[in-house]
Amino acid sequence: MIMAQSGSGEWSPRKFIEEAVGKIRRTVGAGERVVCALSGGVDSTVVAFLLDLAVGERYAAIFVDHGLLRQGEAEEVASLFENRLRGRLVRVDAAARFLEALRGVTDPEAKRRIIGAEFINVFRETALALGDAAYLAQGTILSDVVESGAGPGGVAIKAHHNVGGLPAELGFKLIEPLRDLYKDRVRQVGAELGIPEAILQRQPFPGPGLAVRVIGEVTAEKLAILRQADAIFREEIAAAGLARQLWQYFAIFTGVRAVGMREGRRHYGEVIALRAVVSTDAMTAGWARLPADLLEKVSQRITGEIPAVSRVVYDITSKPPGTIEWE
Ligand code: XMP
Repeated sequence: MIMAQSGSGEWSPRKFIEEAVGKIRRTVGAGERVVCALSGGVDSTVVAFLLDLAVGERYAAIFVDHGLLRQGEAEEVASLFENRLRGRLVRVDAAARFLEALRGVTDPEAKRRIIGAEFINVFRETALALGDAAYLAQGTILSDVVESGAGPGGVAIKAHHNVGGLPAELGFKLIEPLRDLYKDRVRQVGAELGIPEAILQRQPFPGPGLAVRVIGEVTAEKLAILRQADAIFREEIAAAGLARQLWQYFAIFTGVRAVGMREGRRHYGEVIALRAVVSTDAMTAGWARLPADLLEKVSQRITGEIPAVSRVVYDITSKPPGTIEWE
């Protein structure tokens, strides 16, 4: 099965959609219902669209808003559903709950574990409250299968990256329509389904979200500053037409404070780091040689528009020896 897509000259997104929809219809019985977890990323969005074609109103997409998303992201997901899909979008605002669970936690792996566990709790409670679904549809793609060691000859490379995956103990029967596809084909399927470019071309975003981009303890105040800085960086990258050339680009709340000058006075403020990388698979990555003028503009905007920030630095570390994320 895993090899099915290599060398198959006849693969087409349209054919894939027909087959996937047929398979879901054959699997899910006439009166049965499906739930899926929507993250706002490409994979889970494509799954929701396939469910929509296959079972119409008989699915609910649960969107756990953990409060660790980028600026505007939750709203984008919600509006896509309102406008386009028949199934029910169940948006759970769990931001306060995740912040509470993360209070005082500084270790990155501990943060990942807490967020993963909390995500499962919220999802379980929500799905139980909905009551009647027999199936869970997940956006597992081929690289997840290979990296988790489940594929042929696979070794567990990134087990910790599967935050947001849901365990078998939830008791659902699983549907994983994208299991045999790599990301580029998922994007082609998404385009065929009419999913907007903004979602299809969205850069990879870690399951634990901004929690691994706030170094140390996560607080609402730090998240607000980070979100604003990150939005400015993304806006300027888009305006410069560079988004498609970069694998990921984002801001980090470093937790370091530095002295600066504001209105003629000494100002002790936050240090925001910018990271932009080029890569084909995230296993290795190079730091992006962004134009100096662009970096200057971003720096001026961040320090000018966010009073709490006194400095902006640019990360010039490749992977290896660095990693893409700071935590
Ligand atoms: P690193 O930092 O290991 O990241 O070079 C490689 C890729 O994985 C993403 N990443 C994560 N994704 N949960 C995720 O779903 C995580 O805990 C996680 N940590 C890193 C990172 O954004 C990059 O694309």
